[in-house]
Amino acid sequence: MTSLPSRPQAQAAAAPTSEPAVFARFDFNWQALFAERISWLTQPNVVADLRSDHAGETGAVYIYLGAAWAMALSPQRYTPGAHSFVTEHCATEEGHLALFDRLLPREHHSKLLLAWKAAGFALGALPTLVGEAALFCTVESVETFVEEHYNEHIVPMEREGAYPELVRLLRHCRDDEVHHKNDAAARWGAPAATASGSGESGDGGDSGGSGGGGGSARPWYGRAWAAVVGRGSKAAVAVCRRV
Ligand SMILES: [Fe+2]
Ligand SMILES: [Fe+2]
Repeated sequence: MTSLPSRPQAQAAAAPTSEPAVFARFDFNWQALFAERISWLTQPNVVADLRSDHAGETGAVYIYLGAAWAMALSPQRYTPGAHSFVTEHCATEEGHLALFDRLLPREHHSKLLLAWKAAGFALGALPTLVGEAALFCTVESVETFVEEHYNEHIVPMEREGAYPELVRLLRHCRDDEVHHKNDAAARWGAPAATASGSGESGDGGDSGGSGGGGGSARPWYGRAWAAVVGRGSKAAVAVCRRV
């Protein structure tokens, strides 16, 4: 009797001849993802959403590259926890970027990737030069926005039952961002952030509540900076959905 191939076997069948090692840590069915892609490539809104996700993950990697650069100027200023925060978050973001790099055909990438890289680098480096608390505040603010951004396209797709494997991938990334947000919030002494997710998904991870950001108990400068970062992120998404 012929047994069905396991998921890793199915992935291998769908994958290019040399499977990048980065994908070994994920449990996504690339055969299903590529099959769904045939359909969503005809949907401009989905392509625009994924272009913004790809650009956002590019910027996220550069936030941590910028933070690492700033920390390297004077490593003793920062706690060991801050160093590991940057290293671990950066590795996660690189994984997310690898997923979107593979999923979204190059011709649909943002034409402004260089700008998103520069903006991300500055957004990581400048607060880190101020101090690690400013970096944590920035990351919490960015991730609060990113969580909401992911939910804006996850929730409608979940409701419609569209592209289930793509939704699984997006939820995976969203849940990692929620973890980053909560990790950052805890490190700068802010009240424990809660997730502003759909509340009904939950592919693991620690998302699923509501609220996000911690709000009024924060120092005024933290709330002001969070508002600036949120508005800037929203504007960036609006641009890279088009370009
Ligand atoms: Fe990410
Ligand atoms: Fe993140």
